[in-house]
Amino acid sequence: MIKEEEYAKRRTALAEKLQKHSITVLVSAKAQQRSNDTEYPYRQNSNFYYMCGFKEDNSALVIIKKEKKVKTYLFVQKKDELLELWTGKRLGQKGAKAIFNVDAVLTMDRFDKKIAELLKDKLSIYIDFTMQDERLDTLRHMTSHLASHQNISHKVGELRLCKSEAEIALIKKALSITKDAHHLAMKKAKTLSGESELQAEIEYVFKKQGAYSDAYTSIVACGNNANTLHYIKNDDRLENNKLILIDAGCEYDYYASDITRTIPVSGKFTKAQKELYSMILSVEKEIISMVKAGVMRTDLHSHSEELLCKGLISLGILKGDVKKLIKKKKLKKYYPHGIGHWMGLDVHDTGPYKDTKGREIPLLAGMVMTVEPGIYINKNDTTVPKRFRGIGIRIEDDILVTKDGCENLSSEIFKEIEDIESL
Ligand code: GLY
Ligand code: MN
Ligand code: MN
Repeated sequence: MIKEEEYAKRRTALAEKLQKHSITVLVSAKAQQRSNDTEYPYRQNSNFYYMCGFKEDNSALVIIKKEKKVKTYLFVQKKDELLELWTGKRLGQKGAKAIFNVDAVLTMDRFDKKIAELLKDKLSIYIDFTMQDERLDTLRHMTSHLASHQNISHKVGELRLCKSEAEIALIKKALSITKDAHHLAMKKAKTLSGESELQAEIEYVFKKQGAYSDAYTSIVACGNNANTLHYIKNDDRLENNKLILIDAGCEYDYYASDITRTIPVSGKFTKAQKELYSMILSVEKEIISMVKAGVMRTDLHSHSEELLCKGLISLGILKGDVKKLIKKKKLKKYYPHGIGHWMGLDVHDTGPYKDTKGREIPLLAGMVMTVEPGIYINKNDTTVPKRFRGIGIRIEDDILVTKDGCENLSSEIFKEIEDIESL
């Protein structure tokens, strides 16, 4: 759990980045309709949540910065007995006041009026440009006279880059559930006949152990399906002697996990599968061993390209010179994505990769990033030795960057061939 003091500290840190005489407005996520009269489960917007931890719909956080003084307002939805009968309890103004350490809690029906009042004598406004929301459109309209409109997302993103101890504890909890889910998948694959059954087993563990849901739609891709990077249909058969690429991680109390394991349906890798798998696993481990504060993510990527390219040459999948193959984008066909991304409240966390001057941000202690090399060989690729065709393999772990190295937060999830086969 993240304590109220931590949220208050984050708001102080954000306020320090704001211009004088500015107003910052962060709004809650909108409930999303799924089909007539039904909605998706509500999930709070990550930037808004990061700044205040408020989980309800119809709310907003406003930060006013004058010369030096900062004032924070939380707008919440009113108590409403009839609506609460349908959608559940609301904290209301009083309830929120008791929990949230802001200067004032107001109800949302006063939002427009209060904003108009707060706008007087302000020079700039910060809103989240990454959100599509008519409340923000109204605000843009109301504030068209201000000298500057800026995106608050980049500034919140900077704060979100390095995780606190409490955040890391939540990611670890998410990963402990995700570990059990992947291990159950390794045990059960052999006894099941469809990808969706395996997905159900995984997500059963998520729910059973108290995760909110998956952190992204699970990918359960047997055989050649693994070569579709965002394969989420998960409706094919599990065929004996094929591999299954499982990219699945739960979200626990708003924090993501993001894990890929590639396992044999039968419980035993074939020789060709073993060769390719071992090569990718050794690359994954080498890249993880390079993770440390000060290193550039793009250097990790380039190094992963080199290692994978060498590996593919040694297996007879590519022919030629490593540097040339990479330069001529011959490797891209088999390794089309990056080595990894920031992870946190969002699976692809929105912390920036570049600073405001466009320079790459190096790894910092406290960041959590994925390391996820993969090789994807289409079944119809006749340039590749037959035994490798139709195989797609990715291995993905979640890594905490530390001052002098890193901690693999998902090291307990089996990835060695013997360990997977033993389950
Ligand atoms: N699960 C999405 C990713 O690996 O980036
Ligand atoms: Mn990932
Ligand atoms: Mn993933």
